[in-house]
Amino acid sequence: MTAEGSALPKKHSLPAPSFPDRSTRDRVFAALEAARQCGRSSTLGILFTDGYALSTVTVSEAIGDALNALIAANMVAVDGQQVSATVRLQYYAGCYFTSDRPELHRDRFADFVLGVGFATRNFAEMMPLRPGSSVLDLGCGCGVLAVLSAPLASAVMAVDINPRALAFTRFNAELNGFPHIETALGDLFAPVHARRFDVIVSNAPYVISPASTYRYRDGGAGICERIARQAPALLTAGGCLMLAASWPEHRGRSWQGELAHWFESSGCDVWVLATDHLLPDDYARVWLAQEYGDIVPTEAINSWLAAYNAADITMLHCGFVLLSHAPGREPWIEIRELPPGGGRRGESLDRILAARDLAARSDDAALIELRLAPLAGLEAIERRRPGASGWCVERVDLRAADGLRIAMRVDPLAADLLGWMDGSRSAAEAATAFAQARGLAAETIIGALPALLRKLLEAGLIVPATDS
Ligand SMILES: C[S@@+](CC[C@H](N)C(=O)[O-])C[C@H]1O[C@@H](n2cnc3c(N)ncnc32)[C@H](O)[C@@H]1O
Repeated sequence: MTAEGSALPKKHSLPAPSFPDRSTRDRVFAALEAARQCGRSSTLGILFTDGYALSTVTVSEAIGDALNALIAANMVAVDGQQVSATVRLQYYAGCYFTSDRPELHRDRFADFVLGVGFATRNFAEMMPLRPGSSVLDLGCGCGVLAVLSAPLASAVMAVDINPRALAFTRFNAELNGFPHIETALGDLFAPVHARRFDVIVSNAPYVISPASTYRYRDGGAGICERIARQAPALLTAGGCLMLAASWPEHRGRSWQGELAHWFESSGCDVWVLATDHLLPDDYARVWLAQEYGDIVPTEAINSWLAAYNAADITMLHCGFVLLSHAPGREPWIEIRELPPGGGRRGESLDRILAARDLAARSDDAALIELRLAPLAGLEAIERRRPGASGWCVERVDLRAADGLRIAMRVDPLAADLLGWMDGSRSAAEAATAFAQARGLAAETIIGALPALLRKLLEAGLIVPATDS
């Protein structure tokens, strides 16, 4: 189906959902909850996910008397006895999200509003959620990141250049009961330049392409760099930006060096966690397959490859960029692969940023006076080899048990010493007690302590003790 031949309404008059009043919202929400809790959500899946039209009788079976409320909210349309969805509806992380129907994507509708796909889920699991924080969701789409931030945040602002995206965000905010989500229309930070935020999240339109087919996709490295350069001015002290980005590698040049330019004089700690490194052909095919399906026209591939060739791009990289405001000290920068891990990883990231900040602010004398304890659930995996008097421990690998599973190899003595740090006393006191118990020279152990603590803090494998 082409855009011209489409049976869809004219693009400028495409409906977005909206609640005419509070009682319509309440009826829709109650019907969706009841259907989900009573195991009747598969009918809604056929309607809203698969996109099949169903009879009014079947839909009414699934949602009781709320059909009129769904019609009033512009979520479905009725033609005779047939009900069809006008939006996509997904349930994710305890919330409902409406977005554009996939048919619009196939029709190359430039203002297509994305739903909850793999990239959004991955981002949502990685983003920091800070209690009481003010959050900006930049390029909010249907508002997934804004809505998921809302339960813990004190204020949430969602910005997008696409008015339809903001309509979906407002609808999803209302549907899920988060009236404190504000929306603003405009280009990147322009509508909020006078505000300051504790957390800025941006799943940017980062795809590097010669096309401008979709607003959600074709921003390229240029928009990522603009976000990275402009965000620091809008962060509160200690605030952070998390950006999903893509950046090119040019023939004969270091991509790490070129990327580092984005953060010049940012005043922020910079942590780049790379996720993918693709040859131009693979990169183009991955994105074009989402546009065209299984059969990507050769001309489309060739036009993307020609653009990469003309720009001397030999590789394309993707990943997360974290900037954390570091007032009053020299910031650090690390560009590395994303450590393995699954599930909610935002807490790990936040904890590591805080631990690195502590390490960077503390000189050696202050560092060893801290009360530190191993990360909860830290695993120590020993490798032993046979020796003259039985098995001896050759090395120990420390690894976080969940979240970001950062690993670090330490010598057996350091691993034993870590076992003495339970947070009830300073690291220096724990090291002195350890040295006495082992008959070792305390000065030697204390002398090596700051470097060990820095390494462990930077990996997030030890944490400041809490008094609770
Ligand atoms: C990849 S989508 C992300 C949507 C949503 N945040 C998510 O994670 O699912 C990128 C979004 O950025 C928006 N966008 C593109 N260019 C923009 C700009 N210059 N200023 C603000 N938003 C922009 C697009 O309209 C789109 O909604």
